[in-house]
Formats: sequence, structure tokens, C-alpha cells
Amino acid sequence: MTFDLVEGDRPLRGVVVGAGFIGGQWAPELLAHPQTELVGWVDVAEERARASADALGLEDLPVSSSLTAVLDGEEPDFVVNCTVPEAHREVTVTALDRGVSVLSEKPMSITMDEARVMVRAADRSRRLFAVNQNRRFLPNLVAFRRTVAELGPLGVMTSEFFMPYKGVAFLSSLEHPLLQDMAIHLFDAARAVSGADPVSAYCESFRPPWTWYPGACSATAIFEMTGGLRYTFTGSWSAPGHATSWTGSWRVAGSYGTARWDGDGRPTVEAAKGHKVRRHRPEPDRYPGRTRFSGLAEGLEEFVTGLRTGRAPQGECHDNIRSLAMVTAALESVRTGARVAVAFDV
Ligand SMILES: NC(=O)c1ccc[n+]([C@@H]2O[C@H](COP(=O)([O-])OP(=O)(O)OC[C@H]3O[C@@H](n4cnc5c(N)ncnc54)[C@H](O)[C@@H]3O)[C@@H](O)[C@H]2O)c1
Repeated sequence: MTFDLVEGDRPLRGVVVGAGFIGGQWAPELLAHPQTELVGWVDVAEERARASADALGLEDLPVSSSLTAVLDGEEPDFVVNCTVPEAHREVTVTALDRGVSVLSEKPMSITMDEARVMVRAADRSRRLFAVNQNRRFLPNLVAFRRTVAELGPLGVMTSEFFMPYKGVAFLSSLEHPLLQDMAIHLFDAARAVSGADPVSAYCESFRPPWTWYPGACSATAIFEMTGGLRYTFTGSWSAPGHATSWTGSWRVAGSYGTARWDGDGRPTVEAAKGHKVRRHRPEPDRYPGRTRFSGLAEGLEEFVTGLRTGRAPQGECHDNIRSLAMVTAALESVRTGARVAVAFDV
């Protein structure tokens, strides 16, 4: 175990950092979980944190523009880092260095250098640092992962992501909006589903003639994964029709058969001649009727279990850095035009 447990029979004290879109989704999770409480909310724009807290009826909740003031004043057990990616390193390392565990929104950081600094800070402080990849908890992704595990040694995996997506200003400011923002979800899902880690990457990122993005909104990548598996990804934010689901469209071929998933409904499987393969069903939603953002309650549950028992959550930083490494290696390949090795040593 690389992190210390939180002892004692009391709710875990949590602070949300960032009061934008996703911060507003996380705060209700800390209120809803029976073993956590929300003890503060931080945003560089303090009035945004105040307004978000008030909107939840939390007029007495301490808010501040100063993370260190809230860490020192409220002595939380953990923070949920809901800031923009550019601020992830500063917020996470500040909390870890004060002995506070961190559950972060994706991506861990923008660069691998930043990520290494963050993982080393977690190691140094012996605190739990995890990144929540909410799609891992989709019941049909779990069913797909279990079905793929029946296929024997894997050889080929593909995912496509096509969306006609407009209106988000920050995507238009990125040089490679698909790779820099969305791809981590697909790449992390590829690791989750296959159980394989990246070895090398070759990627091209480009602008189709009809795109409304100034940046390269489309990309194709080939990853060699452990075990010789090849994973190919193709996607675009400027899909001219036939959009996929937000979790893409998938095919995995192994020795015993092929599994497919549209990223939404139930996965299907076809056995290779002479083999039998089980098609796993999705388990019932553990939070039926919820109106909250999907995959946050499950991520918080794994994080709390980690702090109490030492069982690492799926997005524990030493694991999650491998998904970020797929993004940064793909970007390096785009820049150099070469196939590059994927390194995720800390
Ligand atoms: N898992 C998902 O599906 C999902 C969905 C949306 C966003 N996200 C991720 O969540 C993060 C935030 O996205 P968002 O859409 O909520 O952004 P946002 O711009 O709506 O909100 C970010 C907030 O962070 C604040 N902030 C910036 N730097 C800060 C700092 N140093 N300290 C404190 N506050 C700071 C900003 O003032 C802003 O209020 C991003 O990493 C994004 O990729 C994930």
C-alpha cells in the first residue's frame, strides 16, 4: 500500500475545489454519501463558490479563493479537484503536501512532467491520489469488459468516436481538441476493457475540410499494447452525420471470438468456430432513479473505500498516469511524425 488510511469512525471531511460545471456535480455527491461531508468550497472566483453553495442551500459553508486557507482552517481529509486542467498540478500538489488526499477530475494533468510531480507528491506524503474516469462505471462498459475477458488472448481492438459538437469555446482554443480533451476517456476505457497497457503510439491529428474548429478536431491513432494487442482509435468532433455514443463504438477480437459494443446499449459477442463465449449482462444501476452526473457516486465510493481499507480505486494515480501517457505519446507522435514509445515511469 502506498497511502495511509484515515482511521476513526466519523465521516470523511471533503473540500470541493472549482465551482464550475463539474464542481457543481461533485458537491451533491459529497452531501449524498453517508461517509463524507462537505466542509468547504474553493474557487479562484470566490463569488462563484459562494453562489454554488447557496444554490444548494449551504449558506453556512465556508468558501474561499484561497485553497491553503481552507486546508488550514477546515482540516479536510480530501479535496475533489474540479479545476481546469491547467490548475490540476498546483491544486493537487498543494493538498498532498499538506497531507490531504485528492480525488481529481480527468485529465490528471496536461503534461507527463506535471503528472510525475503529482504522483511523486502522493508517494512522498503517503496520501491517496486518484483520478476519476467516470465512464469506467457505466454498467454496459462493465458488461463489455467482462465479456472481453472471455475472449482469450486479444489481438485487435478498435474504437470510433464521432460527434458533431459545437459551442464549447475552450475546445476551439485547443490545437488538437479531440486528443487534448476527449481522447483520454476512450484511451482509459481501452485500458479498462482490455486490461492491457500501452507500449507505443503512432498518431495523426488533422482538420477535415468541412470542420468548424480552428484546431485539428479529428485523429487516428494506432497503439501497440502489452501482449501484442493493437488498439486503433479514430474520431472527430466534426462528424457529418452518424454520430457515435459519447463512449464511442467498439470491437475487440480475441482467440475465442469477437465482442462489439455501441457504447450505449448491451454489448454483443460472437464466438469463433469451435468456441463458446459468454455474453455478460449489465448489473442493475446501484443508484436507480438518480438525476446526478453518472459515474461520480461510484468513483467517490471507491475513493472512500480506499481511504478506509487501503484498496486502491481504479483511478489510483500510478495506474491512471498510463492513460495520460497514451494522450501525450499520441501528441508527440503527431508532432514528430514517428511511432513513439509510451513511457509512464514515475
Ligand atoms: N468526467 C467528465 O465527464 C467531465 C465533464 C466535464 C468536465 N470534466 C473535467 O472537469 C474539470 C473542470 O471542468 P469544468 O467544465 O467544470 O470547468 P469550468 O471552467 O466550468 O470550471 C472550472 C472552475 O475552476 C476554477 N478554477 C480555475 N483554477 C483554479 C484554481 N487554481 N483554484 C481554484 N479554482 C480554480 C474556475 O474559476 C472555474 O470556476 C476539467 O478537468 C474537465 O476536463 C470532466
